[in-house]
Amino acid sequence: MARLDVIETFHGILFPGHLHTQDSLQLALKFEFQDTDILIVSYPKSGTTWMQEIVTLITNRGDPHVSQTVPNWARAPWLEQHYCAAVLEASSIKPRVITTHLPYHLLGPALQDSKAKIIYVSRNPKDVVVSFYHFHKMANFLPDPGSFPEFLHQFLEGTLHFGSWFDHVKGWTTATMNNLLHITYEEMSMDLHGAIKRISSFLQCPLEEGKVNDCVKHGSFNSMKDNKMVNYTLIAEEIMDHSKGSFMRQGTVGDWKNMFTEEQDQYLESVFKSKMQDCTLEFVWEKQ
Ligand code: A3P
Repeated sequence: MARLDVIETFHGILFPGHLHTQDSLQLALKFEFQDTDILIVSYPKSGTTWMQEIVTLITNRGDPHVSQTVPNWARAPWLEQHYCAAVLEASSIKPRVITTHLPYHLLGPALQDSKAKIIYVSRNPKDVVVSFYHFHKMANFLPDPGSFPEFLHQFLEGTLHFGSWFDHVKGWTTATMNNLLHITYEEMSMDLHGAIKRISSFLQCPLEEGKVNDCVKHGSFNSMKDNKMVNYTLIAEEIMDHSKGSFMRQGTVGDWKNMFTEEQDQYLESVFKSKMQDCTLEFVWEKQ
């Protein structure tokens, strides 16, 4: 079933129709989380796949067997995608690891009384929009991105697939939940060892130093770039055109500087200021 040209609009947000249906989106909002579940939440291109790999490695105590033999979507499926229920039912992996790109205002109610552990990953929106732009070029289930200035405008207006970055980040980072860890792509990039220790302690899965080092090794950009289970080369050409780019593209902080003009930087900064004015969080990338 390749519904590559279908767009699902759900609560005013666009979702790619080849993986999302009205039913799958509705079901996600009513999902019954188990207290042992680990939920990875992010806006696209913020380091979702990286976090899926790190959580898999941590819960396997640094052993890369699962991360090198089971595709990421089969070991940490997206809650809102139509195959999720079947994957969870068929999988014997414990604890369950589930991923979502849904915003807090939609998924928050399903999590209200849950003790599931939530990891929210955010990334500098400038790097997110550049990564998303390149991804649109290779992903046949997303519209043609057009020119970068047009794409940036849509990103800042919140009209791209998956909705507004601002609503997403504000919603999840200001939610009052004891069981939520917020970590940034930049923190992982600056100190992956420290980030893994923080995540493993949050997951109550303490690791000896040697095991942390194993997670660092297998969760590095170079290892993941060569791992077919996470580099998306298993996805058919018809869905992702691998001649137009690679999913594991740059893996760096600050690539936006190669794309943004001075005016575009000012444009994003001014939208950021006005949309995030009531958000007291100081983001790591702002200090760099
Ligand atoms: P770039 O396009 O900037 O390279 P997501 O999984 O949320 O879609 O995010 C994809 C982005 O995370 C891509 O960014 C990808 O290269 C980057 N990424 C994935 N694994 C990584 C790793 N181990 N280290 C650094 N960046 C990684």
